[in-house]
Amino acid sequence: MKILITGSSGFIGFHLSKLFLSKGHKVYGIDSMNSYYDVKLKRKRLNILKKYENFSFTKINIENEKKLNIIFKKFRPKVVVHLAAQAGVRYSIRKPRVYLGSNINGSFNIIEASHKTNVKHLIMASSSSVYGANKKIPFKETDKAETQLSIYAATKKANESMAHSYSNIWNIPITMLRFFTVYGPWGRPDMALFKFTKRVLENKKIDIYNYGKMHRDFTYIDDIVKGIQLLINKAPKLNQNGKYRNDSLSPVAPFRILNIGNTKKVYLLNFIKQIELILGKKALRNYMPLQQGDVKQTLSDTKLLKEITGYNPRTSYKTGIKKFIDWYKKYYYS
Ligand SMILES: NC(=O)c1ccc[n+]([C@@H]2O[C@H](COP(=O)([O-])OP(=O)(O)OC[C@H]3O[C@@H](n4cnc5c(N)ncnc54)[C@H](O)[C@@H]3O)[C@@H](O)[C@H]2O)c1
Repeated sequence: MKILITGSSGFIGFHLSKLFLSKGHKVYGIDSMNSYYDVKLKRKRLNILKKYENFSFTKINIENEKKLNIIFKKFRPKVVVHLAAQAGVRYSIRKPRVYLGSNINGSFNIIEASHKTNVKHLIMASSSSVYGANKKIPFKETDKAETQLSIYAATKKANESMAHSYSNIWNIPITMLRFFTVYGPWGRPDMALFKFTKRVLENKKIDIYNYGKMHRDFTYIDDIVKGIQLLINKAPKLNQNGKYRNDSLSPVAPFRILNIGNTKKVYLLNFIKQIELILGKKALRNYMPLQQGDVKQTLSDTKLLKEITGYNPRTSYKTGIKKFIDWYKKYYYS
């Protein structure tokens, strides 16, 4: 199958591309290789992908509509997985405009190009951050999600609306995936596990926000890419009665929103304890108030994912942290 993946040099895009390539799919990767974090890490991921002969790559910014359209017309993907975005809640407070460019204009270009080339299933990254200040947990796809706390989350919520409207007008099958804190080997240097591991090893203090009083649903990277793999052939569609199947969250369009998370509440302090245990070293701590834009809690309900794919992520954070630290030590210390 021909699959186009945006953000292929990014953390999730790299793992997903590698999985599809190893299964023999033709993958076309797109990435701007921007310097939001260490470009060397992105280059190393890309070099691994380039070893596969069924991989093609172009370095472009998805805001460049013209170049993007040329690639879509030439490659004619059957499935598109759109992961390129300016990620990160905290950076969105300092640089909000970057998010509008990549996440709003860029995503619009991807939706439009997918429509023009008749893509059979467009899968796009949303985020658990769209649940914002919601109090009721676990978060369910049908819950109201109107209180985004950062411009990052707001752009992801806007993506969901944009995608729904295109799905409605042009009948494009679209799945929006709400990822819950993804971590693992080759992970992002701006995220907690990476930062904590690095700083503990370097005997530096780690910043613990909201004095540690928060919990996250941490999802291991292999579980995320497995979930996406199972979804590619499961585009939302009409049933025999001419209605959208009840797994579609739209009554009028082949469109759905899906949580993909581990369904476990992990308290930040337990997460840190596990890192200390594996590193065999105590973390020096700097307790801080809640960061602006941050949510205090996330927890996914993934019944819908299970119903559609028969699959639920299940790697425990203890196993996942160990795998990350093994990779980190090998990558940076050997
Ligand atoms: N990692 C998580 O915990 C998490 C959680 C929720 C949602 N998400 C979403 O999942 C997707 C992938 O996240 P990730 O963790 O792999 O992030 P990442 O930053 O590692 O990957 C994104 C990639 O997109 C590229 N990119 C950014 N803007 C671009 C543009 N305008 N044109 C072309 N390429 C561009 C970057 O260079 C990067 O390689 C993102 O949409 C992110 O918002 C991630």
